[in-house]
Amino acid sequence: MKILNKRIRVAVTYFSFGIIFSSQIASAAFVSPLRTKKGMVVSANHLGSDAGLQMLLHGGNAVDAAVATTFAISVVEPFSAGLGGGGFLLMHQGKTGEIKALDFRERAPIKATRKMYLDQYGKVRPNLSVDGYLAVATPGTVAGLYEVHQKYGKLPWKEAIKPAIALAQDGFIVSRVVTPRSMSAYQGRKQSILNNPAARVIFTRNGEFYQPGERLVQRDLAQTLTEVAKNPQSFYTGNIARLIANDMAKNGGLITLQDLKSYKPIWRTPVCGNFRSSRVCSMPPPSSGGVHLLQILNIIGDTDLKSLGWHHPDALHLMAEAMKIAYADRSEYLGDPDFVKVPVQQLISPGYAKTRRAEIIMDRAKPSTEVKPADKKMLQRFISWKPTPTPERLRAKVGALNSPSHESPETSHISVVDGQRNAVSLTFTINLGFGAGVVTPKTGIVFNNEMDDFAAAPGVANAFGVVGGDANAIAPRKTPLSSMTPTIVTENNRLRMIAGTPGGSTIITQLVQVILNVLEYNMDAGAAVSAPRIHHQWRPDELRTEPFGLDPLTLQELGRRGQNVKENAPWGNGNAIVVTPDGGLEGAADIRGEGAPRGF
Ligand code: GLY
Repeated sequence: MKILNKRIRVAVTYFSFGIIFSSQIASAAFVSPLRTKKGMVVSANHLGSDAGLQMLLHGGNAVDAAVATTFAISVVEPFSAGLGGGGFLLMHQGKTGEIKALDFRERAPIKATRKMYLDQYGKVRPNLSVDGYLAVATPGTVAGLYEVHQKYGKLPWKEAIKPAIALAQDGFIVSRVVTPRSMSAYQGRKQSILNNPAARVIFTRNGEFYQPGERLVQRDLAQTLTEVAKNPQSFYTGNIARLIANDMAKNGGLITLQDLKSYKPIWRTPVCGNFRSSRVCSMPPPSSGGVHLLQILNIIGDTDLKSLGWHHPDALHLMAEAMKIAYADRSEYLGDPDFVKVPVQQLISPGYAKTRRAEIIMDRAKPSTEVKPADKKMLQRFISWKPTPTPERLRAKVGALNSPSHESPETSHISVVDGQRNAVSLTFTINLGFGAGVVTPKTGIVFNNEMDDFAAAPGVANAFGVVGGDANAIAPRKTPLSSMTPTIVTENNRLRMIAGTPGGSTIITQLVQVILNVLEYNMDAGAAVSAPRIHHQWRPDELRTEPFGLDPLTLQELGRRGQNVKENAPWGNGNAIVVTPDGGLEGAADIRGEGAPRGF
């Protein structure tokens, strides 16, 4: 397994209750980060990272590298993300420190309706939003990559697609990428793949998946990529669009030529907040990621976690209670801001966080039934909240400038930093492994099942177990709510770290912990993305832990406080690049996956 190829080191000592526990009780394997000076690309597959590095070495910038890596990942991780899906990116401009956010998430087809997945009794018809053509939303990956490249790329568009075309045309050796991650997608979605003739032909040989050591060639996808390299509009108005629309019409899908033609990526204002001496910026709605990342960090506030010690029960309990509050709010308030009013400023306000922090009882876990979304009237109190001065502005004011597996098979994250400290943090997806299990003949495109990220009915959980209501109800052209959290952290207007991860509803809590690991606990990038983690999403009422993630006394103490601790298979597959105090770069991919940093 690729993980074994990674240099690992073992964290042997944990402090808890003032007692030192040794590695026999709790240990974790961390990857060693790659350290370079100029530029770096980290993705979930070394072939993806190689494609991006190629761009940087040929004079391209972070955007060129991100575009090349995204297309390459679409080929070598057909189960996680690709042209048939969508995503979000944050970019940091080294020169100005400006941070921009691009939404190229899928949109509901024009023919979609609020009750499209309900039967005559108003009950959700299982699987319709997950498997097959009706689950597919209008894809945005090609439009999004073209948009950001047109505005900010340096190399010709077709250069950035070249590595992906070669990987699709010549193939890649499956053994190099088969891991528990890809296998879980292959095995878990096998029937869906077998049900779709085009998918079956590409990904299986007579019904059996390609085996380790075999070469997976995707000629149709190579042809599609070649066409996109010549004319990206072909995906939305040309030959590719016609193939997609015809296939949808034939098989009960809703996407039409009009859906494709009218698809537009949207530049949005990132959500930003201060944490310690850093400024954390992330994706605004229609992702819930940034809002709840900031909300959880705000609730933690100035609690000195570091003095408590890493994974002290008080720290874990506080995080879990904060997570419950955030996901309760998510279920009530989050949705596509072009359709519903999302109280973003209120939810990310430190004042609101303080109010919710006061509800947390440190000695007793509140059952989810007792944790309510914010009362609408109470939220009003924070309506006049204005962003507090950034640490940069604060410092300027006081003149204090003297001191200088089983990881998630769906979704993929890419982190890129170039020599000018431009950075791109990009997460994209086709939702579940192999999306809807739909491939349009002659295109090689695997289509998403992002419609499942809508609330099919109020309070009915989606595939990730998260619930929603009116705010995230289905409507034509609406964007399904996401948890993707591509994030950029700055200090004094300079890049400090970028990070992101797959993992559905767990994405937000993973990011909270990766950021705390770097900013609060001074972990390096490798330890930060690999360290054991916890997750709570309000409903179901369980605090997820990983095998060997917490020592027995900590587990016992959390149980005593009333946390409903449930051990789960490890989740997530994030990556991060941290800017070190000497200005160098330190990058790593999660020990749980097969990702790799590349740099120079
Ligand atoms: N499809 C998972 C997400 O966007 O959160």
